[in-house]
Amino acid sequence: MVRIIQAVFYFSQIVFLGLSIIDGVHKRTLYSKTNMFIKSRYCIFMKGRQMMDMYEKLKNKLENKDFAICILGIGRVGLPLALSFAEKNILVYGVDKNSDLLSKLRKRIMPFIEEGAQALLDKSLETGKLVPTEDIGLAVKKSDVIIVTVGTPLDIGLRPDYDQLKKSLEELVKSLEPGKLIILRSTVSAGNTEKIVIPYIKEKTGLEAGVDFWIAACPERIVEGRAIEEIKTLPELIGGYCPRSATLASTVLSILGPDKKMIKMDPTSAELAKLFTNVFRYVTFALSNEYALLAENYGRSAHEIIRALNDDYPRGGVPLPGPAGGPCLFKDGYYLVHDLAFPDFVLMAWRLNEAIPAHVVNRIKKGLQEQGKQLRDEKVAVLGLAYKADIDDSRYSPSKRLVELLLNEGAKVSVNDPYFDTEPLDKALLNAGVVVLATPHSAYKELNPKHISELVSPTCFIFDCWNFLDKKSFSEAKLPILVFGEGP
Ligand SMILES: NC(=O)c1ccc[n+]([C@@H]2O[C@H](COP(=O)([O-])OP(=O)(O)OC[C@H]3O[C@@H](n4cnc5c(N)ncnc54)[C@H](O)[C@@H]3O)[C@@H](O)[C@H]2O)c1
Repeated sequence: MVRIIQAVFYFSQIVFLGLSIIDGVHKRTLYSKTNMFIKSRYCIFMKGRQMMDMYEKLKNKLENKDFAICILGIGRVGLPLALSFAEKNILVYGVDKNSDLLSKLRKRIMPFIEEGAQALLDKSLETGKLVPTEDIGLAVKKSDVIIVTVGTPLDIGLRPDYDQLKKSLEELVKSLEPGKLIILRSTVSAGNTEKIVIPYIKEKTGLEAGVDFWIAACPERIVEGRAIEEIKTLPELIGGYCPRSATLASTVLSILGPDKKMIKMDPTSAELAKLFTNVFRYVTFALSNEYALLAENYGRSAHEIIRALNDDYPRGGVPLPGPAGGPCLFKDGYYLVHDLAFPDFVLMAWRLNEAIPAHVVNRIKKGLQEQGKQLRDEKVAVLGLAYKADIDDSRYSPSKRLVELLLNEGAKVSVNDPYFDTEPLDKALLNAGVVVLATPHSAYKELNPKHISELVSPTCFIFDCWNFLDKKSFSEAKLPILVFGEGP
């Protein structure tokens, strides 16, 4: 078919040339107009043909797993993803601008804690399937698929900070050639892919999305610590710019797990879906924290009440209270509402969650006052710096805020966290008047109340932010426990 159209086109060109020579200037306008029309249709046809060829070629490569991926930003999201593709025998260029991180990886050292990742790192470096590199140009050139997983934090004014994304795109477009698939996996505000990224690529390269390259917003939804496991199973939100982009992105991501569900939608809907996911959790946690404050007011335990209301009740599912934070939950609300005039609901949740460390400090002050003491100059040992259990990430951690507030009150604060370079446990506890269990790391389940009572001051009490410790054994060791969400 293509050959026939090409032959007809070339034949028409010869005829038009002949006619224009024979008929002279007078009729040339009519011939030229017809010829221009034929030429433009032919160009559109050939461009479409070329696009189909490129698309089919890429699709075949992806289906046959005969392709390379460039992952831009191999942090807590990008690295587990890179390792998971490498495990599936895909060649991955893991690009990062952080040279310390790259040199650790080359020495086979996992730069952060992630269950199961060390074994995959060893294997992928052995097989050569993971190539850690700073050379984005080379990685983009050699790859058929580019996945962007750089950080998207908040700036000092709590507005989305797109600096990493902008810089990585600036680098990417320098080496972008037609025929590739781009997957945007970082968390961004709704509309980012369609309103910012695609026009930017067009402006800098002249390449048209859906014609010269394919693009999809497929936001990451793993939780840190369980990324390797979840990557294999979590349903994927496939925000394809066009149906072909969606097909290609699903083909790539389904390599990660045979039973993974691919849910197709447009890019803006995918971006919204990701933000809705996290904001829903954050708002729910805020409500549970409000329940905690209410229960305290009534001298009751929110933990017991919530457990009871959830018990065998089909419409239960209320989470237990505790200081909520971390890099995703804290910031994603701002990515959702930053250009809205009425973001009250999300901001109210933020205000409530952010107020919990201050509430904990007030309860500690009250506890000390009852002993006739003040927080100023009292030693407070804070156990846990990470934003959640068994992880070495303290970004937007409520514990950090708690430490800050305690220091502002003039307390002498010592911090222990098994995942950070902090004081050894016994040293942190020595002579403490208050011990705060700020992060429920599994290691703290092993705390020995008797041993602690020998280290801390004789009037010491514990403040448990998570209702995590065994009250009975601590009270037997003469260490009273106050709990967030439980009245006095
Ligand atoms: N951490 C999570 O649990 C999680 C979960 C889901 C989604 N997300 C989202 O995923 C994205 C990445 O988060 P993260 O926690 O992995 O961040 P991170 O800071 O751990 O990783 C980002 C990496 O990108 C690198 N980088 C920055 N600019 C670069 C550039 N121009 N070129 C190359 N590398 C560059 C950084 O050096 C860093 O290593 C964010 O949008 C985040 O909101 C995170």
